[in-house]
Amino acid sequence: PGVPPRDRLSRPLHDLRLSVIEACNFRCPYCMPADEIPEDHGFDAASRLSFDEIERLVRAFVRLGMRKLRLTGGEPLLRRDLPRLVERLARIDGIEDMALTTNGVLLPRHAPALREAGLRRVTISLDALDAGIFATMSGGRGRVPDVLAGIEAARLAGFDAIKLNCVVQRGVNEGEVLPLVERFRGSGIVVRFIEYMDVGTCNRWRPEGVVPSAELRDRIHARWPLRPLDPHYRGEVAKRYAFEDGSGEVGFISSVSAPFCGDCHRARVSADGTLYTCLFAGTGHDLRPALAEGGDALAARVADIWSARADRYSELRGSGTAGRRHVEMYLVGG
Ligand code: GTP
Ligand code: 5AD
Ligand code: SF4
Ligand code: SF4
Repeated sequence: PGVPPRDRLSRPLHDLRLSVIEACNFRCPYCMPADEIPEDHGFDAASRLSFDEIERLVRAFVRLGMRKLRLTGGEPLLRRDLPRLVERLARIDGIEDMALTTNGVLLPRHAPALREAGLRRVTISLDALDAGIFATMSGGRGRVPDVLAGIEAARLAGFDAIKLNCVVQRGVNEGEVLPLVERFRGSGIVVRFIEYMDVGTCNRWRPEGVVPSAELRDRIHARWPLRPLDPHYRGEVAKRYAFEDGSGEVGFISSVSAPFCGDCHRARVSADGTLYTCLFAGTGHDLRPALAEGGDALAARVADIWSARADRYSELRGSGTAGRRHVEMYLVGG
């Protein structure tokens, strides 16, 4: 494994967030609103990288220095035979951490096979415990008991770490924050609150919809005192806080109020093999021609693209960024 390429802001390529499918069984309005994308047809299974291609791609990234892999979607558990892919990726030397992001509803069916295949961590999205609010936030497709069953299945399967992601929107689910904390405090499961972001082109984002993390932190602190924790590693996305009473921790992901582009070492590849160097990139780079040539050609291509990278969208947000096109969230999985 070589020295990771550095981009124009000197940031190494360290993480790969790889989408295995663009389809989803939810229609969260902040990601894939049902009135814009009512059905999954139009999505093309034939354009997705095969497992062979994905393995070759991941091996090339590892050779470039990538050490942390996250599988995303859409909803990755909709990809047929995902555990077989996980098994192949888990065997690759050099990957220090592999995790999966899911909405959780298919976990009761797949968690044991995923764990057996070598997956160590899962992150499950859960925006509300209230049935009506959850229905709204999943675009009418999800039910809270199904996600809770998914969380339970993950726990029973013995994953090393389970995290929950909650996107907070002003006037929609702010009232769910304390109930979520109350429910999972002391369970070993870490809840993280994510500021609603202006990703994609179809979620009608407005700054008024954002609840700054500081406000949530203060609200939680007033009820269950918190103390800040040191980051696990440089560039950690979530700011972590421990409950003073020893009941675990919570995290805040504050891309709007406190951008973290300075240490951003994440590459994203969509299911069709397009590389995006930022969550807010307007266009991507088709990796398939290089992938067809082989791992060395691909590694060289990625190194070239990475070396030219200067993205720092969240730090520039607002200053002339309005109206810019962004890749859709469901294509890169966040
Ligand atoms: P671990 O620390 O490995 O558990 O993962 P993580 O903290 O990166 O979290 P996860 O992958 O669950 O992502 C949580 C949220 O953070 C998602 O909504 C992502 O879209 C957002 N996020 C992750 N990376 C970035 C990034 O580079 N830029 C921005 N703006 N948001 C990000
Ligand atoms: N703002 C913030 N987070 C988002 N996610 C999807 N869309 C948005 C958005 N507009 C989150 C999902 C999931 C993670 C991968 O990305 O809720 O937890
Ligand atoms: Fe699907 Fe996740 Fe997007 Fe919701 S946030 S629509 S679960 S991909
Ligand atoms: Fe990285 Fe782009 Fe997110 Fe900044 S906005 S942290 S550059 S992905």
